[in-house]
Amino acid sequence: MSNMTAERVLSVHHWNDTLFSFTCTRDEGLRFINGQFVMIGLEVNGKPLMRAYSIASSNYDEHLEFYSIKVQDGPLTSKLQHLQVGDTVLVSKKPTGTLVQDNLLPGKNLYLLSTGTGLAPFMSIIKDPEVYERYEKVILTHGVRWVSELGYHDYITRELPENEYFGDIVREKLIYYPTVTREPYRNQGRLTDLLASGKLCADIGLPQLDPANDRALICGSPAMLHDLTVMLTGMGFKESPRMGDPADFAIERAFVEK
Ligand code: A2P
Repeated sequence: MSNMTAERVLSVHHWNDTLFSFTCTRDEGLRFINGQFVMIGLEVNGKPLMRAYSIASSNYDEHLEFYSIKVQDGPLTSKLQHLQVGDTVLVSKKPTGTLVQDNLLPGKNLYLLSTGTGLAPFMSIIKDPEVYERYEKVILTHGVRWVSELGYHDYITRELPENEYFGDIVREKLIYYPTVTREPYRNQGRLTDLLASGKLCADIGLPQLDPANDRALICGSPAMLHDLTVMLTGMGFKESPRMGDPADFAIERAFVEK
């Protein structure tokens, strides 16, 4: 039995020259926890070419959604960026990943710290009503170079708070903090600097990060993961060492360079 299914592309959205997202059918048997990833890919020269992608849709959604960079000479994304409605994508049957609630101890606030396409698993998580039940506030940060890279900005600020089932809890608990590093924007600078200086917490009206109250999930480039891990560890946060061993924060690579 194959370890993957063939799914049909249902929609494609190009955010700018470097980012796109698409939706596809979901195999009836595919179960996942919000925040997990699967391997997805295409058949190239008769063989599957697969890469890890966080699932941006939620576990109750009928379809799957993925958010990707376009790398012109990337083995997979150079091809994947040309997906058209009706094309076939391969999806592995076994989702996995560390950005799940079981890896976090109970806490007051949940920080979802992302850069670039590291936003994807958090799109799944911020649509999960159970996550809001666990925390007083859910803070979604998204650090990018350019304003045009703030994918899902309008969805997060306009559509999600109007969701007919859980819009009210989103309005009460979700704080979205997008920040841009290479052109003017209302929030500017790297997440690391904004956290270290206390500016991010001051801007959102919460106390400085504290392992007594706060939990974090982190998804971004290797450099960003490294720097944030060092910073949080220095503040006394403990990283979840393995699946099912909950602690104060957990990290996942953003699966860059595809
Ligand atoms: P910068 O423009 O200063 O490099 P990338 O596209 O390279 O993954 O970067 C996405 C965003 O993450 C950019 O705003 C970038 O800032 C920022 N960034 C890059 N490296 C780090 C890091 N080590 N810690 C925090 N943010 C980072």
